[in-house]
Amino acid sequence: MFIKKTREWEISENQILPESQYFNRRDILKAMGVGGLIAGSSGLLLPGSTAYAVESDPSASLYPVPRNEAYTGGRELTPEEIATTYNNFYEFGSHKSIAKKAQALKIRPWTVKIDGMVEKEMEIGIDDLLAKMPLEERIYRHRCVEAWSMVVPYSGFALAELVKLAAPTSKAKFLVMETFEDKSVAPGQKQFWYPWPYTEALTLEEATHELSFMATGLYGKPIPKQNGAPLRLAVPWKYGFKHIKSVVRFHFTDERPQTFWEKLNNREYGFWANVNPEVRHPRWSQATERDLRTGNRIPTEIYNGYAEQVAHLYKDLGKTEVLFK
Ligand code: MTE
Repeated sequence: MFIKKTREWEISENQILPESQYFNRRDILKAMGVGGLIAGSSGLLLPGSTAYAVESDPSASLYPVPRNEAYTGGRELTPEEIATTYNNFYEFGSHKSIAKKAQALKIRPWTVKIDGMVEKEMEIGIDDLLAKMPLEERIYRHRCVEAWSMVVPYSGFALAELVKLAAPTSKAKFLVMETFEDKSVAPGQKQFWYPWPYTEALTLEEATHELSFMATGLYGKPIPKQNGAPLRLAVPWKYGFKHIKSVVRFHFTDERPQTFWEKLNNREYGFWANVNPEVRHPRWSQATERDLRTGNRIPTEIYNGYAEQVAHLYKDLGKTEVLFK
């Protein structure tokens, strides 16, 4: 029996985080300036300190990587303190303050499996994968279906490079990605009503589009666990739930899969999930979004402002399908 439990995404963001609390956080951050850190409800910390021990990352010496100036984000960057403490990662809890809990995730050894319709299935350690990939930094807008947004500098590599390494056969049409599964570190995975592991998928045309990016770093450092270490998808024209974190498997198939959120509620979290201000989420408008840097609402743009690059991918789909099916 499917037990329906209200999830954070089923309520609008201003219900999740009361306005007063939200503005307090912004005011505190402003007062502290960059270098301060807010760790959810655990309160204020001295600039430069963290609320939790952060494991040193063996890939640290790779960063910073050269910035690709073709991807500028178009707005001022969101402070690192916000992007790394206001997170969605249901494996560690269905609220935003999961940064501390996520530190339980062990990111070495980390093996990535590439399988399905490929020339040769393989398993590769994250450091070997990083050594093969051309790393660069890109600034991307990041728009959550909950109607908040950020602008963040990801380091990483084009997903097309991984697809090239995988060498899919001519039958492959979709790339399915899967997050780690380990209840002993991720308490959320004990919640049996979620269809773990978290999965997401793209068509191969989307996966090889120049904007599709595997993030391995953030703000010129290895990507923190709460943001999806050691490997996380960034597809900036799609809602944030497509941006699967801590990926362990890339599976090539000819069948369109049902992804994590689609399984839970396909009327609200569809496969395409392209950002569109004209198509309401069934329970709230997508016309505007809250910029987490300023706290101000700004208009949402079709395909999150990346229409010129991606609109052609969807020219054969019907209007609603393009947008949110
Ligand atoms: N990936 C996994 N494995 N688990 C999750 O709960 N949440 C998604 C996405 N990737 C999620 C995930 C959602 S809803 C969003 S908005 C983004 O991660 C949030 O990324 P951020 O915390 O880096 O902003």
